[in-house]
Amino acid sequence: MTRTLFVLVAAALALAAPAAARDVMRCEIVGNALDEPSEGEWGVTIDTAWFDDIKAAGFDTVRVPVRWSAHTGEGPDYLIDAAFRDRVDEVLQAALDADLQVIVNVHHFEELMDDPRGQYLKLLNIWNQLGAHYADWPDALHFELVNEPHTALSGAVMRQTLLSALEIVRRTNPTRTVILGGDGYSSIRSFSSLPPVDDPNVVVTFHYYDPFRFTHQRAGWAGPEVADVTRGWPEPGDRAQLEADGDIAAGVQETLGRPVFLGEFGAYEQGPYEDRLRYINAVRETFEAKDIGWCLWNFTGTFPLWSSETGFDARQLKALGLQE
Ligand code: GLC
Repeated sequence: MTRTLFVLVAAALALAAPAAARDVMRCEIVGNALDEPSEGEWGVTIDTAWFDDIKAAGFDTVRVPVRWSAHTGEGPDYLIDAAFRDRVDEVLQAALDADLQVIVNVHHFEELMDDPRGQYLKLLNIWNQLGAHYADWPDALHFELVNEPHTALSGAVMRQTLLSALEIVRRTNPTRTVILGGDGYSSIRSFSSLPPVDDPNVVVTFHYYDPFRFTHQRAGWAGPEVADVTRGWPEPGDRAQLEADGDIAAGVQETLGRPVFLGEFGAYEQGPYEDRLRYINAVRETFEAKDIGWCLWNFTGTFPLWSSETGFDARQLKALGLQE
């Protein structure tokens, strides 16, 4: 190959590579805030100064869950409330200014989960507005179309919903990284529910809270089967299960030839602390070893990595490989 041809081919490959998505390796979720019915209702109001601290701790990305569906007018336009959008902008901009990549999503759209056909146009209108509004924002801003599809938003209806939302976004954001998760709360068993998408800037995500009886023991919102549980980690078989799950995600990544992203993991604070550290460390190491980036739930509120009284939990940072 001549040198000129080589340079041209290399340049074409570089253009095709989803470079931005690959940079998401160590991510923290700043949840329990803009995903509340209204910010502050569950006790967390985002301080934009947090993002410098998150960056300094070693994270490269933040994921910011947003309950857009609670801040629109009526159909058919479903106009997003301008004051709410300004507040989200302020938060996203502060994270970008801290030199972090930012994932913004549609979180807790529960009506869509229960009635996808009835709420479908609302989702598309939300993404139509967000796509236009953020079209000129830097590539470091990533979109995630729907957090954890579940209940009736599953199978063919889910696939059609995600594809339509993606098509709307692509009209204004042809190459922005867009993240898709499958049904059943985007668990590691959800990959096969996703639609095939021929788009180099689409990233497939999954959430990992297995074993659920460990990660959600006594979590009030997680149902009666975990209400009274006290469980450590690892129990016999747990490490083998994690290894097998790491292989599943790595296999999907290889088959797709594109990044797969662990968009949420963590363990609720009611679980035994040392076991939680062991778990966070093992999950992070397992997927990181497969070149799969991860995102920890959650900065503050539930599953806290940080609190206003004590700052960062240094041992969790260590378990994440971010501090000696
Ligand atoms: C999901 C839910 C969020 C919950 C978290 C951990 O992201 O949307 O509400 O706190 O998982 O259970």
